[in-house]
Amino acid sequence: MEQATITILGAGYVGLTTAVLLAHSGFKVYAVEPDPHRLGVIKNGRSFFYEEGIDILIKNALEKGTFIPTDSYEESIPKSSVIFSCVGTPDNPDGSSNLQYVFSAAEESSKYMQPKAIYVQKSTVPVGTGQEIQSLFKNKGVEAQYVSNPEFLREGTAILDTLYFDRVVAGSDNSSAAKKILAIYKRLEKYRDEIAQLANVHPASISGQYIATNLNSAELIKVTSNAFLALKISFANSIAKLADVVNADIKEVMNAVGADQRIGAAFLNAGRGYGGGCFPKDVSGLISSGLGHGVNLEIMEAVQRVNESMPGYIIEKVKNELGDLNGEKVAVLGLAFKKDTSDVRRSPGVAIANLLDHSGASVVAHDPKANEEALHDLSSTIHITDSLQDAISASRVIIVATDWAEFSQVPVSFYKQNSTATIIVDAVNCLDKAEVKELGITYIGVGR
Ligand code: UGA
Repeated sequence: MEQATITILGAGYVGLTTAVLLAHSGFKVYAVEPDPHRLGVIKNGRSFFYEEGIDILIKNALEKGTFIPTDSYEESIPKSSVIFSCVGTPDNPDGSSNLQYVFSAAEESSKYMQPKAIYVQKSTVPVGTGQEIQSLFKNKGVEAQYVSNPEFLREGTAILDTLYFDRVVAGSDNSSAAKKILAIYKRLEKYRDEIAQLANVHPASISGQYIATNLNSAELIKVTSNAFLALKISFANSIAKLADVVNADIKEVMNAVGADQRIGAAFLNAGRGYGGGCFPKDVSGLISSGLGHGVNLEIMEAVQRVNESMPGYIIEKVKNELGDLNGEKVAVLGLAFKKDTSDVRRSPGVAIANLLDHSGASVVAHDPKANEEALHDLSSTIHITDSLQDAISASRVIIVATDWAEFSQVPVSFYKQNSTATIIVDAVNCLDKAEVKELGITYIGVGR
């Protein structure tokens, strides 16, 4: 597929990362982004979200002319033999997936698509959506080939995950179309060390698998992967609640449990629960999609319930130690849903800060990158500061709600020297509890 032209619809985390990486792999790539603010930032050679290494790749590809941000389907789609749909799939109030952007992108594309163009779905959609989009194309008289190519990158490590993947999945009723999409990733693989060097991310030595499946399998692989990871986290959090009562340490427990290769150590870190734009909505989307097909995925309902209980569980632990929180000064460190991102969607740190505020505490919040994005989600009475020292200086309680290196890699004595705190709540189990106790500060972890 020499010098193929590709269009990416939607320049969010998935779309923008995919677009710039393919633009560095010998493809000419249009990225269609309708939001004028986001488009303006990208055209100026930057990303509108924080992601390590992405800005240099955007700037460089713009200069080479292989990356063309635009808001126009008409400009990009007719020239493209492959179109990747990476538009947002928010959840509806009832937990089901809202597919309005997925369908409107397909419908708009159908007006301009070349005959035999390959339309690739990267957005996370419930199983069966691809069949509906194929019908849409058929009804419009478009001869497109349709492939589901689910995305597995994580925010914060998006470039690394895309370059050094565990697996690429392409599912289609048309096996030759699926193979053509896998060939795009094989080409990316050839360029990956060069790209990693430019982006200053550390190359990994993973040799990923290329997996071709049928269309519905590919759709189900994506949501099943996220659901299983969410299940591991809620499982760890359930055992953590028991560990709290029986005086075991969940870190010791899960280190040993995860050493069994059949189980694996990843995603067993107990804490304030999962957040972000993916796990919460993918779990509720899977439950709702199951019910739509008459299948009750009750195990996932339990996963969701456990997760939703975790921010409140943390607050209860603080109340058990202090009693009434009214007027207590509390610092919440970490508003992003995890480290190394500015994303605050469904962030447990934000939920904890708001719960404390509602309990009458006087809350100061700080995040290295997400202060601005968190502003709209936080109660107006919460004070946000750009300085870690300011956040902790007058606080009686410090809650570490996101495992940013700024909070977990500083010597614990930093907290002693810069604050009057008597309690540190480690809501992500990232601190050395013995060190905290040695300083005469009460340590509260989750399951420790
Ligand atoms: C997740 C998946 O990991 C990706 O493979 C997938 O492509 C992506 O969703 C998506 O569907 O787009 P992401 O949401 O970026 O990626 O973040 P994760 O690193 O998976 O973390 C999710 C949440 O789980 C975070 O709040 C994190 O703090 C929490 N977590 C993670 C735990 O509480 N414990 C753990 O052991 C691991």
